[in-house]
Amino acid sequence: VQNVGILAMELYFPSQYVDQVDLEKFDEVGTGKYTIGLGQSKMGFCSDREDINSICMTALHRLIEKNNINLHDIGRLEVGTETIIDKSKSVKTFLMTLFAKEGATDIEGIDSTNACYGGTAALFNSINWVESSSWDGRKAIVVAGDIAVYGKGPARPTGGAGAVAMLIGPDAPLVFDCGVRASYMTHAYDFYKPDLASEFPYVDGKLSIKCYLSALDNCYNLFCKKMRKENPDFKGLLSLDGMLFHSPYCKLVQKSLGRVCFNDFLNASSAEREKQFPGLSQFDNHKREETYFDRDVEKAFMVYSEKLFNEKTKPSLHVAKNVGNMYTPSLYGGLVSYLVSKSPDQLIGKKFALFSYGSGLASTMYSINICKDMSAGSKLETLINSLNDTVAMLEKRQCVDPQVFSDLMDVRTQNYHTAPYEPSGSIDVLFPGTYYLVRIDEQRRRTYERK
Ligand code: ACO
Repeated sequence: VQNVGILAMELYFPSQYVDQVDLEKFDEVGTGKYTIGLGQSKMGFCSDREDINSICMTALHRLIEKNNINLHDIGRLEVGTETIIDKSKSVKTFLMTLFAKEGATDIEGIDSTNACYGGTAALFNSINWVESSSWDGRKAIVVAGDIAVYGKGPARPTGGAGAVAMLIGPDAPLVFDCGVRASYMTHAYDFYKPDLASEFPYVDGKLSIKCYLSALDNCYNLFCKKMRKENPDFKGLLSLDGMLFHSPYCKLVQKSLGRVCFNDFLNASSAEREKQFPGLSQFDNHKREETYFDRDVEKAFMVYSEKLFNEKTKPSLHVAKNVGNMYTPSLYGGLVSYLVSKSPDQLIGKKFALFSYGSGLASTMYSINICKDMSAGSKLETLINSLNDTVAMLEKRQCVDPQVFSDLMDVRTQNYHTAPYEPSGSIDVLFPGTYYLVRIDEQRRRTYERK
């Protein structure tokens, strides 16, 4: 099989959002803290009408409908999520209701979990399956979804919610490079969810930023090394048309691109430094591990990388800025944003790197080529047209007052373990085609309907 990758994609985000300007006022923080300091504009959220099963099902069903997928042509279905509503039963098994109805039950795959990385783990599993001796010629579907909520306090504006569904197979318009994935995995208590009675994580915000940036350093340098083995002329960021990141909030992504340039600077010879990084010689003796919170380094390399950021990364932040951190789908919302920001002609032949990060921690940098084989051009066009329709729905959402948002969060929190339970969140406000929770019974079995 050749050119294995993403054939089609669908993104779901909630129909309600809170404006970050309103939230700054409501939280009584300085004007600009969330909008400029974090770089966020709007935050999507779900009432108690939606849960991880429903949002994943909404994305999956839309992908199937829009692309006329024959359910018997799917041999693998897997989910990446960190939104746990059951310690045993997977979200994938719930998604099987759609397939089992049609008698399609010979479908491998199950859920993958580690913070925001689960979606990437599921995606790699599916790519690997198609490339393996176990493959039977059918396609795979990967669903990544999360409801990202924090308790009241500084992390709350970095929430979000959403799900992405991706169809995986050969002869794809978005092709994954083989043999160059670079991972960095280690143990850290930067963000974790040890309190099973609560939907909220424990988060050490500053440590989580340090972990993210050190994972980026490690993945980027290893990725470049592996790429140079394939192509000695590979020049890192300069050889890439785009660089996409998991986005906890957009400002961190901009800082990350600066960080990539700082790595290029550290790796360059002194002659190269003078040529490529004029005026930055004061950082000659700085060390990677001592600079995670070095304001001077951060500022200098953000200024240095501004044009590169605008060109290679900023187009990928539209969904992240307007929905927030969706956790597992965050990077894939970045991919969607990047694709709809350009025409198919502008995309063909381009190569970009993606950095996936999940706290605790698991991270990988890998790369995608657009239409390695030109015959996939019409598939790319279909993919982009369909995503344009999806992204346009951002403008059809309802803005909600922060007090209403806060009250809805309280309802979620208070009823996280209530059974039996009938949700009170509005059905009217949901987009057509959205799955929603109807009831949780005494045995904590959940029933859903589709709007
Ligand atoms: N105008 C403009 N900027 C402002 C203002 C203002 N009025 N007030 C503050 N800022 C800036 C700050 O200078 C800071 O910028 P900097 O990062 O360049 O220093 C930024 O806004 C945030 O302000 P802080 O005081 O540093 O933020 P705080 O401590 O309140 O929380 C944090 C920020 C740590 C990101 C918090 O939101 C959090 O814990 N989020 C969840 C964890 C997270 O997302 N981690 C990242 C990776 S892990 C993951 O994906 C979950």
